[in-house]
Amino acid sequence: MWFETRAARILKTRLPLIQGPFGGGLSSTRLAAAVSAAGGLGSFGVHHLDAAQIKETVAELRRLISGPFAINLWIPLGSERELRPTQEEFKSNVARLKPYYDELGIPEPAYPSGFSQDFERQIEAVLELKPPVFSFIFGIPSAEVLKACRTHGIVTIGTATNVEEGLALEEAGVDLIVASGSEAGGHRASFLRPPDESPATAALVPQLADRVRTPVVAAGGIADGRGIASALALGAEGVQVGTAFLACEESNASETYRRALRKDSARATVLTRVFSGRYARGIRNRFLTEMTEHERALPPYPVQNWFTQPIRQAAASQGREDLLALWAGQNAPLIRHDGVQELVEFLERDTERVLSRLGSR
Ligand SMILES: Cc1cc2nc3c(=O)[nH]c(=O)nc-3n(C[C@H](O)[C@H](O)[C@H](O)COP(=O)(O)O)c2cc1C
Repeated sequence: MWFETRAARILKTRLPLIQGPFGGGLSSTRLAAAVSAAGGLGSFGVHHLDAAQIKETVAELRRLISGPFAINLWIPLGSERELRPTQEEFKSNVARLKPYYDELGIPEPAYPSGFSQDFERQIEAVLELKPPVFSFIFGIPSAEVLKACRTHGIVTIGTATNVEEGLALEEAGVDLIVASGSEAGGHRASFLRPPDESPATAALVPQLADRVRTPVVAAGGIADGRGIASALALGAEGVQVGTAFLACEESNASETYRRALRKDSARATVLTRVFSGRYARGIRNRFLTEMTEHERALPPYPVQNWFTQPIRQAAASQGREDLLALWAGQNAPLIRHDGVQELVEFLERDTERVLSRLGSR
């Protein structure tokens, strides 16, 4: 059967189907539980949470899920943790965003003690909690962390946006490699080459599958059986689907966001760094267009991400599509399902239909 792959065996799931983790509060334990119950691997992105919140999340996932699930972190890239804008830079960033803070009725932020979570504490929490699966982007954890994962039986999934990153992940000994093509929604997780150079899924998957022994999982632009069948034909042994799961009512995306994913405007997505300081794919809206004028002056991640976080949060609770970060992949126009169970059943049935149609030709 098409779904009996090494990736499914390693993940201990019926289907070689991973629900892409969503950071920044868009994952939900309900979504992960529904995906795991339907035969895939539910994931939860925790990069924005501190160690105590990660512990609470994993406890809730364990309560809801009897089988495997994944916890996902961002690996700090370069010297991002040391970034500290001067008081002057801080003030000019606030001034640039003040019209949006005012429009949403939120206070101007004060200089914080840190601009992102403490990664060392996050990783300690993950090792202590021993989730069934640990996935990560933007790099590779240290050899000690990966060794501890192997010792504790935690399956590891790294993410590559180009062949070099895939080779580095294989060398580090991860269990699965997600090959994330440029169609994918959300951040381009590149760590060895510029993010805007990463190839599309149909180019990346076969090139990487030819070079590594580790099973490859295709991500980016997959939303139906045609996408899954083509990923398998290209050499992937599983798929990671993001945008189509984000559009399900179980996700933590606001109703405004889920509606935006279904609009005609979702046909055009762009890579932008205006929301977080790092390139990510999303639907163009007013904030994206207006801020693009200032793109060169914006601070890098995590500083810009910290500055826009209250805007994104208030926009979600006030139903303001024009000021939300509308992360979406290039195949958002293929979204047809509102619930996880119907989506997973469709993906399975549609893959079988496509493969048998191709086989009978
Ligand atoms: C809103 C959003 C947030 C995301 N956050 C993360 C994340 O924190 N960690 C991660 O590994 N991938 C993240 N991704 C990528 C997805 O997990 C998945 O690989 C990608 O969406 C697959 O491409 P698709 O959107 O075309 O299906 C995110 C994607 C979206 C749309």
